[in-house]
Amino acid sequence: MGFCSPVCKTLRRGKYFVLLVLSLSVLAWITTFSGETVKSVSTDSASTQIIAKGDGLRDKFNSWTAAPNRVNPTPQKVKCPQESPLLQGARKLSFESSLKLKDVETENKAVTEGVYEPSDCIARQSVAILIPHRSRERHLLYFLHHLHPFLQRQQLHYAIYVIQQSGDATFNRAKLLNVGYLEALKDYSWECFIFHDVDLIPENDHNLYVCDQHPKHLVVGRNATGYKLHYKGYFGGVTAMTKDQFFQVNGFSNTYWGWGGEDDDLRIRVELQKMKIIRPAAAVARYTMVFHKRDSGNEINKDRMRLLGRTPKVWRKDGLNSCSYKTLSVDRLPLYVNITVDIGKP
Ligand code: BGC
Repeated sequence: MGFCSPVCKTLRRGKYFVLLVLSLSVLAWITTFSGETVKSVSTDSASTQIIAKGDGLRDKFNSWTAAPNRVNPTPQKVKCPQESPLLQGARKLSFESSLKLKDVETENKAVTEGVYEPSDCIARQSVAILIPHRSRERHLLYFLHHLHPFLQRQQLHYAIYVIQQSGDATFNRAKLLNVGYLEALKDYSWECFIFHDVDLIPENDHNLYVCDQHPKHLVVGRNATGYKLHYKGYFGGVTAMTKDQFFQVNGFSNTYWGWGGEDDDLRIRVELQKMKIIRPAAAVARYTMVFHKRDSGNEINKDRMRLLGRTPKVWRKDGLNSCSYKTLSVDRLPLYVNITVDIGKP
C-alpha cells in the first residue's frame, strides 16, 4: 500500500462501481429465472411443465404433454332429434326454366357424390332414394333442386341413385328399381329405400322420407288428381320400404314393360306377406306432378291385368332373385349416383 494520487483514487472507485453493477445484474437475472419456474409449476401442477426461455424443443414438449383440459375435445355427435327443428311445413315450389345444374350444385355444397349426412348429429335413418329414369333431364333437375334441401331439412343420411335404362326398348320402371336396390346395397347397407318417380315433388317436408314397421305409401294426393287418393289400393309414385321388407316380397316383378301395373303388383306382394300399407296424413302427403306428355317407349302395358292375376303364383320366382342385367357404368356425380344399365327387352 503506498501513496495513491487523486487520479489513482478515482480509478479505484470506478472499479468498485463496475463490480457492484455486475453483481446486481447477476442477482436480478437469478431472481427472474427461478420466479418463472415456480410460477409455471404452481399454475399447472397436473402437467409436466419444463420452462426455459428460448428453448423451442421444450416449448413443443410442453404442448404435446399439455393437460387434457388444455386441448379442445372433439364434440361427441348425438342422435338427431325425433323431430327435426329444420322442418318448414308446406312450401311453394318453383320451376324456373332458367335453372341450371351448376346452380343446384352450388346450392348443395354439403352433398358429396350424391350422399349427405348431417354434420352436427347422427341421422335416425340411412335412406337410399331410387329414381328410375330415361330422357327426363329437366324433371331430374327440378327433382334435385327440391329434394336435396328437403331431405337435409329432415336431417337424414341419404343418397340419391338415378337408374338409367340404356337403349330404346320399352321402359321397365320396376326392373330398374330392383337394379337400384341391388346396386345401392353394394355401396352401403341402407336401411330404408324410397322408390320415387322423377316427376313428383313433395310439397311439405313433414312428409318424412323414413321407413316404418310397414311399407309406406307417400303420395296421398297430387295436384293432378285434386289431392285425393287415386284409388284405395294405389301404391305408386313414391313408396318407402325397409331393406328387409323389400327383400321379403322379393322386390318388384321384372315382367312389367311399359306404363302401369307394376305398383299394383308390389301391393299384392306386400298383402301376401300380411303386411299393411300405411300412409302419412293427407294434409302433408301432397305432391306436385311436373307436367309432361306420355314418353315414347313407355306405352300403356295392355297385358298388365293378366300379369296381376298371376302374381300370387309367381312372386317367389320373379323378382330380386331373378333380376338379370348388365351394369354399363356407375358415375358418381356431385348430386347423384348415375347407374346406366342394360335390362334387356320384353
Ligand atoms: C295402374 C298403376 C298406376 C295407376 C295410377 C293404374 O291403373 O295400374 O300402375 O299407378 O293406375 O295412374
